Amino acid sequence: MASKVNNTSKSSKTAAENKAEKKPAATKNTATKATDKKPTASKIATASKKPAAKKPAEASKPNAATAENKTAKKILFVTAEAFPFAGTGGLGEVAGSLPKALNNVGADCRVIMPLFGSIAEKYRQKMTYIGQTHVMVGWRNQYCGLFSLTNDGVTTYFVDNEYYFKRDGIYGHFDDGERWAFFCRAVLEAIPLVGFKPDVIHSNDHATALVPVYYKTEYASRYGYNGIKNVFTIHNLEYQGCYPSFILGDVFGIAEHDRWIVDFNWELNCVKGAIESADKVTTVSPTYAKEIQTPERGYGLHDILCRNAGKLSGILNGVNVEEYNPEKNTSIAKHYSAADTSGKTECKAALKKECGFEDDKPIVAVISRLAGHKGLDLVKGLLEREWLGRANIVILGTGEKYLEDFFAWYGGSHKSAKTFITYNKDLAHRIYSGADMFLMPSGSEPCGLSQMMACRYGTIPIVRRTGGLADSIHDCRSGGGNGFVFDDYTVEALCDTVNAAIDLYYKKEWKELMLRAMNCDFTWDRSAVEYMRLYE
Ligand code: GLC
Repeated sequence: MASKVNNTSKSSKTAAENKAEKKPAATKNTATKATDKKPTASKIATASKKPAAKKPAEASKPNAATAENKTAKKILFVTAEAFPFAGTGGLGEVAGSLPKALNNVGADCRVIMPLFGSIAEKYRQKMTYIGQTHVMVGWRNQYCGLFSLTNDGVTTYFVDNEYYFKRDGIYGHFDDGERWAFFCRAVLEAIPLVGFKPDVIHSNDHATALVPVYYKTEYASRYGYNGIKNVFTIHNLEYQGCYPSFILGDVFGIAEHDRWIVDFNWELNCVKGAIESADKVTTVSPTYAKEIQTPERGYGLHDILCRNAGKLSGILNGVNVEEYNPEKNTSIAKHYSAADTSGKTECKAALKKECGFEDDKPIVAVISRLAGHKGLDLVKGLLEREWLGRANIVILGTGEKYLEDFFAWYGGSHKSAKTFITYNKDLAHRIYSGADMFLMPSGSEPCGLSQMMACRYGTIPIVRRTGGLADSIHDCRSGGGNGFVFDDYTVEALCDTVNAAIDLYYKKEWKELMLRAMNCDFTWDRSAVEYMRLYE
């Protein structure tokens, strides 16, 4: 479950202290030099005069789609994270790619996210100050600044409040319930201020789950808000945003007669509230959409999801094919493509050297959060069975301590293994390009992106049949196919499948398999078209 509000009195007190002592970024600001015509997020922090809010119309530059087409579907994409600004994983990747893909198929999609303290100065410098408003969080009246930045064809609005967002880490603070309640209300309050009334508000995961709840219970009947549709996407149902029931009014500001919407299992459950309130609920693969309606994978919400099955569907994510492109990526040793794969041999030689592998066996890669449910306990079991006579293995990631410790020890004490306990994108590209096989034996996987990234590099995925892995990887042993798929969540099943892959590696069919994997369509355009249909 997601982080909880453990101590509401503490959270309220801090919020009160905040009111008294801590001024928000944009109001700390004082004078902008006469020459500084456009205040930016970073200048504002040091200047001495409050910047005048621009008129909404001029504050938000329309995307290309609206400039040409006034009838473009207007989507406000709400997220706690988006690359390149701030992100911890899959949701950040999706929010960094899908809005652009939607704009390419005729939408006017804009993103809204918190102005985290960690957002790089180079982006802050380019932000435009739109204005400020106040947001009620229960009884608290909190400052909310708004900035915008158009990057790579997508306009992003940033919600500023340093008290809530100038902290290390996106999630996991003692007052997450209060922080996300603030953000969700701020999103709705921002609509008139930025001058962008969406046709659809598309919220993502637990941190944004109160947006459809607030819309249905309060905003739908307010002037200027009528007729907006709400879509809510579940990227991982394990995180539901659960908080103690007594913060309903005090922090969420939800009336007692609306308690049933978020009430679940003697707690407040934000994702449950979003499922009840949104017009459409999606998840990130068709198989996961079915799985979450079962007790095994519903994490307690299967009944609620079954009852709402009519509005539930699954749309498989894509990957950023420009970035994950062996023809162009600048981090890899040599470029290659499906038409000429010879560069992959050099990439493999470079990876072999970087890992200190001594022989020419196939290289098996794992790039993952080191968590049990990602199947890393199976990988641990595989290594404990001394299978490595047949291959070298490279592991990249951080995560649960017992797994970090095991893989660090294993990599340090076996010549056929190398472990990097870190996350480094350049190194990830070097591994994808140099490895032959990619292990992803997840216990559950809503979508998974790495298996698609591996395919782009002609690195053959070995996956367990679950969620998005089942939808994106098809077993080559049953004809066609772009990888290896097994069913049982056991070390034996993983061992057998890895052995089958190593057998095939030495045969001429391997090259055909590589080409099929490289030629798969994992573009965002395919997903974007499906989302556009959903928004209708
Ligand atoms: C979450 C899921 C992952 C998915 C990603 C993007 O991180 O665990 O399977 O690919 O979100 O939707």
